[in-house]
Amino acid sequence: MTSSSRKLPEISIRPARIEDYDEILAMWRAGGLSARPAGRESPAAFARQLAAFDGLYLVAVDAARIVGVVLGSHDLRKGWINRLAVLPGYRRRGVGAALVRACDAALRAAGIEIVAALVETDNPASCALFESVGYRADVPVRYYRKLSHPQA
Ligand SMILES: CC(C)(COP(=O)(O)OP(=O)(O)OC[C@H]1O[C@@H](n2cnc3c(N)ncnc32)[C@H](O)[C@@H]1OP(=O)(O)O)[C@@H](O)C(=O)NCCC(=O)NCCS
Repeated sequence: MTSSSRKLPEISIRPARIEDYDEILAMWRAGGLSARPAGRESPAAFARQLAAFDGLYLVAVDAARIVGVVLGSHDLRKGWINRLAVLPGYRRRGVGAALVRACDAALRAAGIEIVAALVETDNPASCALFESVGYRADVPVRYYRKLSHPQA
């Protein structure tokens, strides 16, 4: 880990694997993030995304246990930091910041020069985290979306 290694030397960051799926889903739920196992977070979708974003889906691991996750993606033009979560008992120890830094570095190593994240305005922890690692809020946007089905 980067600056947080002084806080949690036992934590390491590694690429996610298909067998991490259940733990990652459980972590999102523990973190209050929705999980969509019948949609964009189904096992098949996760496997496709892992293959497409090789080295950008990352987990933080304490011994054998996954304690944090971040999914990086890009469309060749812009990079995205998605689905960041840290297990409640491991927060405020630099794990989230280390995951964002690692994902950002992997995206930039892939030639992506702008990396962005969508953060709900009522999530002060996540807003503060992104600001702490150098991200700045841009102009307010309205997020439009269209689902293929209600669980997508
Ligand atoms: C947001 C989240 C990932 C932060 O993870 P974390 O490992 O606790 O974050 P870090 O310890 O790396 O924090 C880095 C910095 O971010 C800021 N920060 C993090 N959590 C904060 C909080 N609850 N309140 C205020 N600032 C906070 C601080 O500046 C912190 O540095 P400091 O501890 O030296 O003051 C974690 O709270 C979480 O999993 N929340 C639920 C899921 C979620 O909301 N994900 C984001 C979706 S966009």
